[in-house]
Amino acid sequence: MHKKIIVANWKMNLELQDAKKLIANILKKLKKQNPHTTKIILCVPYVYINVVRQMISGIRNVFVGAQNCNEYNTGAFTGEISCSMLKSCGVDYLIVGHSERRTLYNESNKLAEKKILQSITNNILPIFCCGETLEARKNKTYFNAVNTQINESLFNLDKDQFSKIVIAYEPVWSIGTGMTAELKDIEEMHKFIRNKIRNKYGKLVSETTPILYGGSVSSLNASNIFGLLNVNGSLVGGASLNADHFMNIVKVLK
Ligand code: PGA
Repeated sequence: MHKKIIVANWKMNLELQDAKKLIANILKKLKKQNPHTTKIILCVPYVYINVVRQMISGIRNVFVGAQNCNEYNTGAFTGEISCSMLKSCGVDYLIVGHSERRTLYNESNKLAEKKILQSITNNILPIFCCGETLEARKNKTYFNAVNTQINESLFNLDKDQFSKIVIAYEPVWSIGTGMTAELKDIEEMHKFIRNKIRNKYGKLVSETTPILYGGSVSSLNASNIFGLLNVNGSLVGGASLNADHFMNIVKVLK
């Protein structure tokens, strides 16, 4: 079985000095907790990748990730960042298809697929986000919504490519709102995703694909969520900006 995973998504927060302080505090706590069974992936703004990578160097269960990339590898795309550039700066993971990219920047499932291919080609592991809107939850089309996202962004990958994927199920309405999905609904969706992977790629791949839950995860609700079958960790936004809150979540997963 794979390691448990906690992903921090800082989004567009923190200035350099605060970012350094946060990492230093996380590392201080990590030394005491020493949870080597949990992988910690810090998805920080592009401009901090190098600094963070240096600060975590030599710590074997902490990795640096990016929050986005361009779908092309090189060229005249002013202001954009490619996966090969990210790799050359030591990035190991990449968030793709986050709901904020989908809603604020109109990113489609097909665009997410292109970014995933770039990511895999450049030896960066994609963390693919999927999840339904509140409307889809209310009108009971949530399985459809997630099904389409996975089919269009992931299911053209071959088995070898797919085995690099981390999935994060994040109901859109729970991100940054303080509202988490009900435990039975989380369990149901994770089971749906796991079965879907098994039908397409077989038992082994389905059992080893990490499926994370995201959306207002905190140190208060983490232990119930991590107790659910098929939940292998979490993608944490707001709570990842505070070392105490974040490391308490890590501690619970351990
Ligand atoms: P949140 O963000 O934990 O603040 O809800 C989750 C996310 O970034 O996906």
